[in-house]
Amino acid sequence: MAIEGDRCIDAGSEYCPCYLAEMNNCITCTRLKGKEYCDCTWRGVCIYQEYYFLNNKKRDIRQYQEVSIIEREFIGKNAIIFTLKVPQSLARQLKQPGSYIFIRNSRLEQFFDMPISIMYADHTEGVIKIAVEIHGVKTQSIKNVEDTLLIKGPYWNGIFGIEEMKKTKNASCLVLARGIAQAPAVLAVKYLMKNKNDVKLLIDRSTTQYNLIQDYCNAEILNDNCDFYSKEGKELLRHYLNIGNYELIFIGGSDYLHQNLLELISDKDKYRIVLTNNKEICCGEGVCGACTVYDADGIPIRSCKTQIKHQ
Ligand SMILES: Cc1cc2nc3c(=O)[nH]c(=O)nc-3n(C[C@H](O)[C@H](O)[C@H](O)COP(=O)(O)OP(=O)(O)OC[C@H]3O[C@@H](n4cnc5c(N)ncnc54)[C@H](O)[C@@H]3O)c2cc1C
Ligand code: FES
Repeated sequence: MAIEGDRCIDAGSEYCPCYLAEMNNCITCTRLKGKEYCDCTWRGVCIYQEYYFLNNKKRDIRQYQEVSIIEREFIGKNAIIFTLKVPQSLARQLKQPGSYIFIRNSRLEQFFDMPISIMYADHTEGVIKIAVEIHGVKTQSIKNVEDTLLIKGPYWNGIFGIEEMKKTKNASCLVLARGIAQAPAVLAVKYLMKNKNDVKLLIDRSTTQYNLIQDYCNAEILNDNCDFYSKEGKELLRHYLNIGNYELIFIGGSDYLHQNLLELISDKDKYRIVLTNNKEICCGEGVCGACTVYDADGIPIRSCKTQIKHQ
């Protein structure tokens, strides 16, 4: 599968221009990538002009803040839902599908930061909810935290295909979500429903053993206990693809799941495909390189900030 992308999720936001512009490595603006001419396809406020008006400086970066844990709920085998009290402005910024924040135990160092999707955001109350599945060092380190978490955000590139999703209106959509990837699916489903789409869901509870989505939206659930890797699960998906007239398919799960389910979709070009971003994200600012993928020409793409298209 070829990869391409030159659309920075932060372009035009209050975090643009960023360090990458100062370093002549802007993802979207060709002038701020060292070229003498402009041939970008960005249709928002000119990034080069913004940079010029800021006296060739970046905007302020996102800052850490310590926030209170209002509630912790243990679900399934190994997951925790945290309800956090955050500033209203941050909660508002985190309502976008694909939103995530970095979280960590406030007693630990920066390298314990982990990206976690926003499942719910209420800007009037200044409350967000996240669901964390406990795996290794970083997630273990917050398992017993009861009082506060250190967070940094907002970040928005938790989903690839956001533009496609935003274009989809009054259409039929199929959402496939497995395990903890139900968390990023919640904001996506809500967004699609707000745009008057008819959203149908197939859920594989996997290790979370829990249907997270039903608590946050009332989309029609076709089946909430599939096993996407089983023969029956794959047949069920084929069945719904045959009888439904879907315009958009969302897959929430690992890259391995994406690959497995995409193989079952014979005429992929017919659909808008939206996928969760599962790359290993470390700084989230396009600098450290942990999330790098390569296009067909071997050019590195920072997937923490770039909307990637799989061709
Ligand atoms: C945009 C985004 C949103 C995410 N949202 C959620 C969420 O809502 N809930 C949740 O439980 N998990 C989420 N994750 C995954 C979560 O960040 C990892 O599970 C966590 O960092 C694992 O760290 P660990 O040391 O506990 O486990 P490890 O044993 O190191 O890893 C366990 C798994 O997590 C992956 N992982 C490890 N480090 C990272 C990293 N820095 N970035 C991404 N994946 C990593 C590994 O490849 C492995 O598959 C998200 C990841 C991304 C990229
Ligand atoms: S996570 Fe550091 S460059 Fe993407």
